[in-house]
Amino acid sequence: NTYCVIMAGGLGSRFWPLSRTAKPKQFMDILGTGRTFMQQTYERFSRLIPKENFLVVTNVRYRDLVLEQIPELGEEQVLLEPLRRNTAPCLAYALHKIRLKNPEAKIIVTPSDHLILKEEEFVSQLKNGLAFLDVKERLLTLGIKPSRPETRYGYIQVKKKKEFNDLDNLYKVKTFTEKPDVEMAKIFIETGEFYWNSGIFISSVGCFMKAFDEHLPEISQTFLKGEHLLDTPNEEAFIKKAYSECQAISIDYGIMEKATNVYVLTADFGWSDLGTWGSLYENKAKDEAGNLIEGDNILTYDVRNCIVNISGEKAAVIQGLDGYIVAESNETLMICRLEDEDQIKKFVTDVRIKK
Ligand code: GDD
Ligand code: MG
Repeated sequence: NTYCVIMAGGLGSRFWPLSRTAKPKQFMDILGTGRTFMQQTYERFSRLIPKENFLVVTNVRYRDLVLEQIPELGEEQVLLEPLRRNTAPCLAYALHKIRLKNPEAKIIVTPSDHLILKEEEFVSQLKNGLAFLDVKERLLTLGIKPSRPETRYGYIQVKKKKEFNDLDNLYKVKTFTEKPDVEMAKIFIETGEFYWNSGIFISSVGCFMKAFDEHLPEISQTFLKGEHLLDTPNEEAFIKKAYSECQAISIDYGIMEKATNVYVLTADFGWSDLGTWGSLYENKAKDEAGNLIEGDNILTYDVRNCIVNISGEKAAVIQGLDGYIVAESNETLMICRLEDEDQIKKFVTDVRIKK
C-alpha cells in the first residue's frame, strides 16, 4: 500500500563541473562505492517497498540513464518531465498517477542524491513514520539534528511535547523555514529547537492532495483537470502543457512552509546531503596532506587541503596550492578556492553564456 517517489530531475549544479547537465550528481558514483546515488536510493527503499510501487520522476533527457541504472523498473515507472519546474509539480504528477491506481496509498517522496550510512536505522524510522500515519493523516518529514549553520537546508522548529505515545522522537512542527540566511541559521541552532529537513516526506494520497489544494491551488487545478488523461496516449501531451503552465516551486517553499499539519520524525541515520564539494571533502578520507585526489595521472608538489578531480589520459601537474578545488570535465576545467564554492552556480551560468 506504500509507494516511493524518487525525485531525480535536479541538476546538482553545485558539483559542477563534475556534475553537469548531461549527467547530474544523482547518476554519478561520486563516493566511489560502485553504485550511483540513484541506485543506492532505489536499493535503500527496496528494503521496504515492492519494486512495482516505485516511480522515478525525472527530466525527459535522463530517461535512459534511469532505466540503465535501475533495470528493475518498467518504462511506465519513469515519469518524464519536459521542463524543470522544481519539486512541487514533480510530486503533483506522481501523486495523480498513484491516485489513479490506489487512492488510499501512502507515499514516501525522496531526493535521489543523498547518502545514508545507517540503513537499518533508516528503514526502521520509515516504518515508525508509516505506523504514525495509520493513526493520524498528516504530512510527515524526517528531521536531522543540525551540526552547523548550513544555509542550503530547510529548518524545522518543533514543539517539544509528546504527540504520539508510541514514539518519543516525533514532534509537531511549529515553523518551517526553507534556506534561511546564515544569521538566521545561527539563531535557529542556538535555540536547540530546530532540525534540518532531510527532504524526505511521507503522507497519504489524500493528505498530499489536500495540501496542494490549499497551498498550491493552481498546480492542483492543472493536474486535477487533466487527471483523466494520465495513463492514456494523451498523457505526454497533457504533461507538456501542464508543465508549461506550472509555476516552478519546491515542495519546501510551496507546501512545507505554509502547512500547519506537519509532523517531524527526528532521527540519526547517518544522513548527509553531499550537495557540495565541501561536504564531499568532509565525508571522504583524505591523504596526509589533507588532499582528496581522484584521477590516475595526477602529480602534486606542495599541495595541501585540496580536492583534485581529473579523470582521463591527460597528466596533471599541480604545485603550491592550498585549499582549492581543481576539477575537470570533458568541456571544462575549474580551479576555485574551496571556501568560495558558493560561486559555482554562477560559474555554470557564465560558462554557458560565454560558449
Ligand atoms: N523530477 C524533478 N524535477 N526532480 C527535481 C527537480 C525537478 O525539477 N528539481 C530538483 N529535483 C530533485 C533533485 O534531483 C533532488 O534529488 C531533490 O529533487 C531535491 O532537490 P534539490 O534541488 O537538491 O533541493 P535542495 O537540496 O536545494 O533542498 C531540499 O533538500 C534539502 C536536504 O538536502 C529541501 O527539501 C531542503 O529543505 C532540504 O533541507
Ligand atoms: Mg539537494
